[in-house]
Amino acid sequence: MSTRHFRTLLDLEADELMTVLDRAAELKRLRGTSEHPEPLRGKTIVVLLEKASTRTRLSFEVGITELGAFATTLIAKDTQMGRGEPLGDTARMLTRYAHGVVYRTFGHDRIEALAADAGIPVINGLSELYHPCQLLADMQTIREHTNGRLEGVRVTWVGDGNNMANSWILAAERTGLQLTIACPEGYDPHAPALEAAAKAGHSVRVLRDPVEACIGADVVTTDVFASMGQEEEATKRAQAFAGFMIDGEKMAKADPGAIFLHCLPAHRGEEVAGAVIDGPQSRVWDQAENRLHAQKALLEFLVG
Ligand code: CP
Ligand code: NVA
Repeated sequence: MSTRHFRTLLDLEADELMTVLDRAAELKRLRGTSEHPEPLRGKTIVVLLEKASTRTRLSFEVGITELGAFATTLIAKDTQMGRGEPLGDTARMLTRYAHGVVYRTFGHDRIEALAADAGIPVINGLSELYHPCQLLADMQTIREHTNGRLEGVRVTWVGDGNNMANSWILAAERTGLQLTIACPEGYDPHAPALEAAAKAGHSVRVLRDPVEACIGADVVTTDVFASMGQEEEATKRAQAFAGFMIDGEKMAKADPGAIFLHCLPAHRGEEVAGAVIDGPQSRVWDQAENRLHAQKALLEFLVG
């Protein structure tokens, strides 16, 4: 069988995705007990980073260890990659040493390129286009709130049409969650992702009005206005996203039982008001924790 990768959510069939999410909930329950499994005993997983990371690095390192495997993190600029060793040669070399690689990079084509030359599973730890591991945790967090349901859950994304927005769109494609996106013109999500969702019969609404987008939402979520690599655009983006901060007014439009999610790191007073992210509807710490459980389930599925 050819090597399975996790480049985007579409690398898992819908039923496989639910299997992984169910297992994530089970691993969360078993954590710290004598029944917790170690299906990766004797294996090595490499975490290869071309961008900064706190949660992705830590949740993978801890999760890999808890599955009985050895985790080693490479900061790409400190390796021979930083001196120009080709990605393909890196892929071939990783294949000889390790049993899986988590890769955080810039262009999504680099995820595809590493996977093309790797004989071991490549897991996208964030690219400019997608952040699928984060969505596993986000869906796990939603299911904790909805008694396991994803289909039909009304999710509103307010902000940039970035890697997180694109990943939400593919989550809608796979699960039928009902997604609304509010973004300013010029900051739309990736068109092929929208087309994929529409083709699957789970069209995503794209609006310009962030207040309208929040009406009746079960989940309200956002992310930074300037992602890693876009630091120089920060001022221009702050202007373009004026009025897009998730604040009390927007949360009041959502369902009274709505929750707030953010992949973190967050900028209070920019994309989210402190009163929202630190308030009673926020589930961001459960969401961050769920990175650990969801990725353990993913690793067990791909590498175990
Ligand atoms: N949410 C997330 O991926 O966080 P890090 O950038 O800290 O890994
Ligand atoms: N959109 C953000 C997500 C960080 C986890 C970025 O790419 O920087």
